[in-house]
Amino acid sequence: MNFELTTEEERLQQQVQQFTEKRLKPGVVERDETSEFPLEAFKEFGKMGMYGLCYPTAFGGTGTGYLPYILAVEEVSKVDASFGIAFSVNTSLYGGSIMYSTATDEQKKRFLSPIASGQAIGSFGLTEASAGSDAAGQQTIATKDGEDYILNGTKIFNTNGPLADYTVIYALADPSIGTKSMCAFVVEKGMEGFHVGKLENKMGIRSAKVSEMVLSNVRVSADRMIAKPGEGFKLAMQTLDGGRIGVGAQALGIAEGAFDIAVEYMKQREQFGKPIFKQQYLAFKMAELYTDIEKAKLVLYKAACLKQAGKPFTTAAAIAKLTCTDVAMKVTTECVQMLGGNGYMKEYHVERMMRDAKITQIYEGTNEIQKLVISGGLFRRKK
Ligand code: CAA
Repeated sequence: MNFELTTEEERLQQQVQQFTEKRLKPGVVERDETSEFPLEAFKEFGKMGMYGLCYPTAFGGTGTGYLPYILAVEEVSKVDASFGIAFSVNTSLYGGSIMYSTATDEQKKRFLSPIASGQAIGSFGLTEASAGSDAAGQQTIATKDGEDYILNGTKIFNTNGPLADYTVIYALADPSIGTKSMCAFVVEKGMEGFHVGKLENKMGIRSAKVSEMVLSNVRVSADRMIAKPGEGFKLAMQTLDGGRIGVGAQALGIAEGAFDIAVEYMKQREQFGKPIFKQQYLAFKMAELYTDIEKAKLVLYKAACLKQAGKPFTTAAAIAKLTCTDVAMKVTTECVQMLGGNGYMKEYHVERMMRDAKITQIYEGTNEIQKLVISGGLFRRKK
């Protein structure tokens, strides 16, 4: 067991820190107000090879590893959690759907390389109005028509939906047998019948673009099918296992970002004739939060290392997601309190971080679903 990051991993962290200072910190409060996504910065980050860190060079990636990818999500999320989730969905959920599918290498090159190399943006279409926690309750249908399939349905809460060049769509080939016929396709922006629906107006991660994606008789050729009927549900689950480590990293980054702000504030802010960190109650509170952050980091990196080593990681990913997101909610709420009235004001950032933290307990499997996965691992599966 080695608790040290490698020199390369530390260098990557510094590279991402420099990027976030220069490209994400300026305007982060304004983007929260206007819900404007920093598209140019997102493209620039892609050109740095960040969306391909965990994918092989044969499919447009850099083959660096899953832990480095997780470190990068954590770093950007310290400053801009909206950017963090756009990064994670692009890489883990779109990229993962292609990478872990039974698609041919040719399909993987075609559909993963543009995303991994940062030339295009990806999105993941699983959730529907009646298929949230119960991901098996799909109503999007893929009807075979000659050599092609015709897709009909509406996906909701699609992160990156309005920005995406490529979207993975999960659908049922035969509703009479439900999940056993779930399959997946890659659909591209501009295809006839495929359009952006309602744009969501959110409590947090306000500059991330999240929308409905509507499919009305979208004709797709069979070479766009990446999971055959029957393979779709497992692919979605395996992909979400990876995605949950990404959300854990986003949440940990949010917690650390808020914590760092509170530490600096407590050194400057004086009340009752001394800096407030000299109040033992507040210092102990910070010690408790720091301990929570360190614990969360351990389970997060463990899950990433297991995935990187090709070992079973479903339970570890659920533990990481559950732990990091609960810690993010606790730490950000306490940091708002720590900054008092200033903590409630937008220019101090921590109130935004508290709003951003909330969704991490909900998306990519609510924390109640994570407990279901963890208990399932204990009592049913052997992972
Ligand atoms: N890996 C591989 N296979 C898996 C698996 C995993 N992690 N989990 C389940 N499976 C397999 C099972 O082994 C089983 O296979 P068999 O039929 O061969 O036995 C099959 O899938 C069905 O498994 P379950 O009976 O456990 O399935 P279920 O219907 O009870 O659902 C669930 C399980 C864990 C509750 C699942 O529905 C789930 O994860 N729900 C949450 C959905 C979710 O996370 N949605 C987020 C969408 S993305 C998002 O948030 C948007 C965004 O942009 C950020």
